[in-house]
Amino acid sequence: MNKANIKLDFNNVLTDFVGIHGISLDEIGEIGGKIDNAVRGMVEKAPQMAWRELPFNQDAVVAEILAYVAEKSPQIDSLVVLGIGGSALGPIALQQAIHSPFYNVSADLRRGLPQLFVLDNIDPTTMSDLFGMLNLEKTLFSVVSKSGATSETMSQFMIVKDMLEAKLGKDAAKNHIVCTTDAQNGNLIKIAQTEGYKTFIIPSGVGGRFSQLCPVGLIPAAFCGMDIALLLEGAADMDARCKNPDVLQNPAYAFAILHYLALKKGKNISVMMPYADSLKFMSDWYAQLWAESLGKRHDNDGNEVFVGQTPVKALGATDQHSQVQLYAQGPFDKIFVLMGVEDFGNNITIPKTYEDMPSLGFLGGHTMGKLLQTSQMATEYALSQAGRPNMTITMPVVNEYTMGQLFCMLELATAFAGELLNIDAFDQPGVEEGKNALYAYFGRPGYEEKKAEMAAQPTKNPKYIV
Ligand code: PA5
Repeated sequence: MNKANIKLDFNNVLTDFVGIHGISLDEIGEIGGKIDNAVRGMVEKAPQMAWRELPFNQDAVVAEILAYVAEKSPQIDSLVVLGIGGSALGPIALQQAIHSPFYNVSADLRRGLPQLFVLDNIDPTTMSDLFGMLNLEKTLFSVVSKSGATSETMSQFMIVKDMLEAKLGKDAAKNHIVCTTDAQNGNLIKIAQTEGYKTFIIPSGVGGRFSQLCPVGLIPAAFCGMDIALLLEGAADMDARCKNPDVLQNPAYAFAILHYLALKKGKNISVMMPYADSLKFMSDWYAQLWAESLGKRHDNDGNEVFVGQTPVKALGATDQHSQVQLYAQGPFDKIFVLMGVEDFGNNITIPKTYEDMPSLGFLGGHTMGKLLQTSQMATEYALSQAGRPNMTITMPVVNEYTMGQLFCMLELATAFAGELLNIDAFDQPGVEEGKNALYAYFGRPGYEEKKAEMAAQPTKNPKYIV
């Protein structure tokens, strides 16, 4: 197992390399006081950052998960995660990183491991199609909700429980449901305890989008054959690197500081563009983390700031043919995070088929990995030439150890960016407002006032509906 460090190269964010749209070392020096405050803030926020302890305090949890997986695995051929947002995006990102995109459709690739489905939406068509495909007798449903109250997840749970009980009977159905939730809050823990479902706990101080390294992410990973201890080891080693007081040697702090300064200079968009299919869904996970943590109306002093940086997902080389034109020549409102892989594990060599045709012959003899890496280098060059600040995260190889590092680095960078922005990176009042509106529309008891408030809003004028 390759236990090399991932690397953050931010040369191309600096003015020396990209000119006036970059960040100078002087600008970093000028916010030294703010950086010191942010470092202190990270210490003061410890109770909301219990997720930082996850790489270090879960020996018993890991042992319990592994024992559970060993007991259940021979009985199942499919694991279905019911969860949304932070309960789903991490498991999807890790699964896609470690396993082939064709894992679910190829028994050879699965090598006896279960199929993994993450039902992170409530579209009835998708749900019906999936349920129609499953052999319920050989399926385990993992219900994941920190709040134990999210309507989407709890609705899915009720449907699944009903379906299992109708097909297998009440007692047998219990063995097909595992719950992961808060120890006290919400209905899910109460239901799990009353009805006797196997339960794992999301510790307090571990919010949804920071929960990938607790049972939320560890359970599906372990079922799909991943080394979850190694995932945590990678995170622990990154955590140590992110204690470096020299902020330019600290990957999380450097990432956050450069994004913060870029935002101050009008770079309102953070584009994440991995050059590897395995990392495609890291962009989804990052998009939630960055958007939900940093997009805030109020700062910590109650001032209206309407702050945040919009994350955009892209994939190299695919999106070179769809988005890079805008990135290179559109507005100077973006900072880029490219991600590359040194060793893809597998490689395919392009045959020297048309050596007599110079416009094709130059490709022959090279590997597809080399072509993808060179495409990334070419985009870095083009962006830099066009004065677009861009940094690169390099994964020596994509495995549990390097993914643990990546999750940890980006979580710490997000928390540190929150401190620099003087906002609470761990709440999501904007999401709560939408949840409350749903409750009111759906007639949940206790939301009558909200429903009346909403009904009093001016209705849409039909003349603008075509
Ligand atoms: O990061 C968050 O807090 C959210 O994205 C949640 O993960 C999401 O809303 C689901 O919430 P819960 O886990 O409580 O069901």
